[in-house]
Amino acid sequence: PVLVVDFGAQYAQLIARRVREARIYSEVIAHDASLEEIKAKNPAALILSGGPASVYADDAPAVDEGMFHLGIPVFGICYGFQKMTTALGGEVANTGGREFGRATLTPNGEGTLHRGLPDTQPVWMSHNDAVQVAPDGFTVTASTPGAPVAAFECVEKQMAGVQYHPEVLHSPHGQEVLTRFLYEIAGLKPTWTAANIAESLIADVRAQVGDEGLAICGLSGGVDSAVAAALVQRAIGDRLTCVFVDHGLLRAGEREQVQTDFVAATGARLVTVDAEDIFLGHLAGETDPETKRKIIGREFIRSFEGAVSEVLGDQAASGKKVDFLVQGTLYPDVVESGGGSGTANIKSHHNVGGLPEDLEFKLVEPLRLLFKDEVRAVGRELGLPEEIVARQPFPGPGLGIRIIGEVTKDRLDLLRKADLIAREELTAAGLDGQIWQCPVVLLADVRSVGVQGDGRTYGHPIVLRPVSSEDAMTADWTRLPYEVLETISTRITNEVPDVNRVVLDVTSKPPGTIEWE
Ligand code: XMP
Repeated sequence: PVLVVDFGAQYAQLIARRVREARIYSEVIAHDASLEEIKAKNPAALILSGGPASVYADDAPAVDEGMFHLGIPVFGICYGFQKMTTALGGEVANTGGREFGRATLTPNGEGTLHRGLPDTQPVWMSHNDAVQVAPDGFTVTASTPGAPVAAFECVEKQMAGVQYHPEVLHSPHGQEVLTRFLYEIAGLKPTWTAANIAESLIADVRAQVGDEGLAICGLSGGVDSAVAAALVQRAIGDRLTCVFVDHGLLRAGEREQVQTDFVAATGARLVTVDAEDIFLGHLAGETDPETKRKIIGREFIRSFEGAVSEVLGDQAASGKKVDFLVQGTLYPDVVESGGGSGTANIKSHHNVGGLPEDLEFKLVEPLRLLFKDEVRAVGRELGLPEEIVARQPFPGPGLGIRIIGEVTKDRLDLLRKADLIAREELTAAGLDGQIWQCPVVLLADVRSVGVQGDGRTYGHPIVLRPVSSEDAMTADWTRLPYEVLETISTRITNEVPDVNRVVLDVTSKPPGTIEWE
């Protein structure tokens, strides 16, 4: 891999993504990793990320300078650029030329990194100190008002660096510069493609599970669990059993999507647990959001456990047991939790609902090195239909937390109709790519007066909650075209009985959460 050495920059993951966008595999590694750990990864190149500190500060993150003498290509960014400078004998100083935010970069026409790019270009900067003198043998290729040496390179040593942040979109030529380092200076080839990724992940799963091992996977209907299951199915065939819990809180068509589309595309062995009556029974009379969530979580575990023991029962005759649990964990989660190992025993929480501690499985997490867009690309490569691969996020507790008030079958049916209309119209208007998700919420305990035909109505409001987001941590309400809102409103009030009003939620997150409960 290309290793991104993380100096505590919020940008390290982003750099890894950009390298992968250049179709070269990349991973993040902590800056205090030993030289041995770095060598063990057999890196094709190192990229030193930015960081918060000055290279001269007492608490400046250290780096084993041996990494500059491994004969491996190195690219330094911001703090990493300065670290590289001092390690190789150049000079860094604080001369008051601090730059934060947009700056203008002027390439001087020399070298490879900025060859042929515009004479001046905006770049994103964040520094106090600046490189004053490049190390011996390095060519300076660009400057900014606050950084006389804003970029340098040494093709012979296969090393280069820039003071600015090429990984952010505010540096419009950044990706090109990074790609030039990778292809032209480090001599790497773009081989990280969906087909290659899928092939190598399938081989990894085979190696982990072995020739005999049995695995189980909870399908939520979401992209991650579907792609993880599809990969494992390719690797071990019928030794994987997928479990889908139909809790009655699903949207229109979701069960069919899993039972028909997913199975048709993958040939996976699927057990569906019909648990609608059980879930609705336990939810009867409950209106408190947290209580509802807890009931749904608890019943989910019970259903899943029931299915697991059924699968175990099947195999008990031959003396086998299910050793492996497949999970759709993605790379950002792995990096954020400090990079866990692939074989940890399950603790209390879990993508599809939280499994009890006494269920001991080894985890199979085939997506643990991938970003979401890569997961989608692999899903397409494996032949999963677009309806599954391009799916927007949907919460595990389903429509149960989109009915404000008690959850009943009638209310669910009503909400399913309204939700389907909203989804149909958003798709027809080509807006799916612009919105992160659009919860449709039924205010079951609210009534308002309306008029329809010649009569008075006293019905419920439906809330539309379209949001735009990068990661669901923060969100803004999506400015949907009025015509689309009009069509959705007209159709819902005409087609859904007992609904006489449609309202739009115009709250960002924070202060509102995306879901209403
Ligand atoms: P909130 O409402 O917290 O939602 O702004 C953030 C994102 O998480 C989804 N969500 C859930 N997903 N189980 C899930 O798998 C849950 O219990 C759950 N609750 C919220 C929500 O749809 C949004 O994308």
